[in-house]
Amino acid sequence: MAPTIATPITDSADIANFVISKGNGVKGLSEMGLECLPQRFIQPLEERISFSNIMPQESIPIIDMSNWNDPKVAESICDAAETWGFFQIINHGVPIEVLENVKDATHLFFGLPAEDKKKFLKENSPSKNVRFGTSFSPKAEKALEWKDYLSLFYVSEDEASASWPSVCKDQVLEYMKSSEVVIKRLLEVLMKRLNVNEIDEMKESLLMGSKRINLNYYPICPNPELTVGVGRHSDVSTLTILLQDEIGGLYVRGKNDSWIHVPPISGSLVINVGDALQIMSNGRYKSIEHRVLANGSQNRISVPIFVNPKPYEIIGPFPEMLAGGEKAAYRQVLYSDYVKHFFGKAHDGKNTVEFAKI
Ligand code: OGA
Ligand code: NI
Repeated sequence: MAPTIATPITDSADIANFVISKGNGVKGLSEMGLECLPQRFIQPLEERISFSNIMPQESIPIIDMSNWNDPKVAESICDAAETWGFFQIINHGVPIEVLENVKDATHLFFGLPAEDKKKFLKENSPSKNVRFGTSFSPKAEKALEWKDYLSLFYVSEDEASASWPSVCKDQVLEYMKSSEVVIKRLLEVLMKRLNVNEIDEMKESLLMGSKRINLNYYPICPNPELTVGVGRHSDVSTLTILLQDEIGGLYVRGKNDSWIHVPPISGSLVINVGDALQIMSNGRYKSIEHRVLANGSQNRISVPIFVNPKPYEIIGPFPEMLAGGEKAAYRQVLYSDYVKHFFGKAHDGKNTVEFAKI
């Protein structure tokens, strides 16, 4: 029998098969040591980050939550959500150890052999709430993004214990549980400024009735300048709580087409307003475009928790926002329709929210 010689895969169909269908992800490609980026990942010029637009002197607010009862803290949170849509929190009460454990668990999951991860591809996964994949929406995208992910939709502790991958489920559940208090505090503070003084059961279901947590892996990329880790988008959540490692690469849209880096701060969490909160606040709080650069020398991970309305909730501007005669800027939409619209297309900046505009 002729010896098998490992030949580099260059054909576009082979690449898609290797990365998407076989469960190797872009991590598998990266580890083959390929010297140049395959065509499928080359983004059009306008989607690549041009360094001339980056504002190194700008920074999103950093808010110390240790005295969270202090009205000044509440004011900074609401101001940041109105003007930046993005901020970092420190002294937030989630133990550092819990954060470290979830980052370690992310490395453990992506360190599994492709055959093990493949079991969680959409077509194989034992649960529709567990999905391993690559890029954002490969069927809808012309150019793929340089990212692999494991996406976990939280239904209940029992369901998670039964269906989430065993190498990471305990750590992820612990992180979700430990972050509940700070999530509730942030939402309470943000609601007060909108004259929503109590988060009753109905509001709770609207604001935080479901949660999704993603483990993101951005492997070393041979030509980081030609592609993106994640393309321009805003999140469809109410709020996103993002844990990132020490590598960096997340950029937020600033004034006049500029981009602002979100520097890793040990122990901090990055908070951003999602489209659902922009809609419910009738535009007062803003979901801001962001993107992730690919990295040529280091592997990066991040772990966002998307705090979302329940899928069957109908979202629209809060009556409290319109009580004073303010005109509604958004119509009522079924949240699951909104999410379906988001995933049915490639990342396209702030365009998703147009779906709900009046
Ligand atoms: C996302 C996202 C940013 C990051 O998953 O929606 O924007 O730093 N991630 O990974
Ligand atoms: Ni995002």
